[in-house]
Amino acid sequence: MLNDDEAKEPPYTLPDPLRLADGTTVTNARRWWQQRRPEILSLFEQSVYGKTPDTVQGIRFERPSLDQQALNGQATRNVVSVYFTDTQDGPKMDILMYLPNNCTRPVPIFVGLNFLGNHAIHHDPGIAITEHWVPNQPELGIVDHRATVASRGTEAHRWPVEHLLARGYGLATMYYGDLDPDFDDGFQNGIHPLFYKGGQRKPTPDEWGAIGAWAWGLSRAMDYFEIDTDIDATRIVVMGHSRLGKAALWAGAQDQRFASVISNNSGCGGAALSRRHVGETVEQINTAFPHWFNGNFKQYNNKEHALPIDQHMLITLIAPRPVYIASAAEDLWADPRGEFLAAKHADAVYRLLGTDGLVADPMPGLNTPILSRIGYHIRAGKHDVTTYDWERFMDFADKHLRDASGDAQW
Ligand code: GCU
Repeated sequence: MLNDDEAKEPPYTLPDPLRLADGTTVTNARRWWQQRRPEILSLFEQSVYGKTPDTVQGIRFERPSLDQQALNGQATRNVVSVYFTDTQDGPKMDILMYLPNNCTRPVPIFVGLNFLGNHAIHHDPGIAITEHWVPNQPELGIVDHRATVASRGTEAHRWPVEHLLARGYGLATMYYGDLDPDFDDGFQNGIHPLFYKGGQRKPTPDEWGAIGAWAWGLSRAMDYFEIDTDIDATRIVVMGHSRLGKAALWAGAQDQRFASVISNNSGCGGAALSRRHVGETVEQINTAFPHWFNGNFKQYNNKEHALPIDQHMLITLIAPRPVYIASAAEDLWADPRGEFLAAKHADAVYRLLGTDGLVADPMPGLNTPILSRIGYHIRAGKHDVTTYDWERFMDFADKHLRDASGDAQW
């Protein structure tokens, strides 16, 4: 049952991001980088998302298609397949990219995972239809877990590609099911088995779940961006919605190559504080989606107060890089106020590192974006990614990546 009643929120005390496990207070940046940040990262690995294995050997990139005149000449469409093993039939992820044609390369890009396959993000007939398992949705052209032509463009409202291109950004996106199909199969499909050691059949309680695998895929895309000279690998913004917002935050927390991170309606296990017990709870998420987090996270069902971290500390792992948390007023399941408070409680670490944090107190009203180094908005409406959200994400990237780069041409 959804608790959307603030009055029923239990009193709670958040762990202090600036206090080491031994009780010492962190008062300078050196201590943050050398001691507290690694400690918090390891607590998230141990208790929430699980440890990500070291990168698998044998990864390679192949470019199956390139069209320099896509979208009526506005963009170059490029697809790169990332093979995770040295065999052609092993698991692979396809990165679909649109880069703007009328601007100087290399370009900054947004990268995000998508829910229904790359072909669903745009009606462009040049995008191959995913051959991977997709959750059944006959009304969206997905039957027997296979996507059909009828599912082309069914998520296009969430990916305003032409707007991004017009504002000088490229877009890269991958289907999250290329990494781990989103159902609980005991980790037999997807990439987890590639990392099992002698006789292992599933991850140990402290090893990664599905969110860890999705975040890992974002980092493998980052590996590719670093070798593509058309892409500015120093200005990659990782963005995700909902469960994929959780993955974007975890990717940005672990991989400091991402210049900026955007969480849209990511809720429980994403940007929302767990201890508030408002909206989705740890027990509810672990029950409905047992494969998302690691085994240890189940110990905190109904015991959020015992967690050694809370989600504000996930945001501190991104510091001092610009991070934007977006909520939606009707998305009570994701606890908008809990998302705002997590952002607010990350502020002290940003300030210790010499930037502003979240310059908003109290919580801003509807459609009043805050573009400080920790950015935030709550827009009217439901759980979704809208053009309003994207326009704010680009305003935020303009401010923190373009202005900071001094690139007048942009
Ligand atoms: C469910 C789940 C949320 C998640 C959302 C989504 O509602 O409970 O945690 O964010 O799905 O990914 O759309």
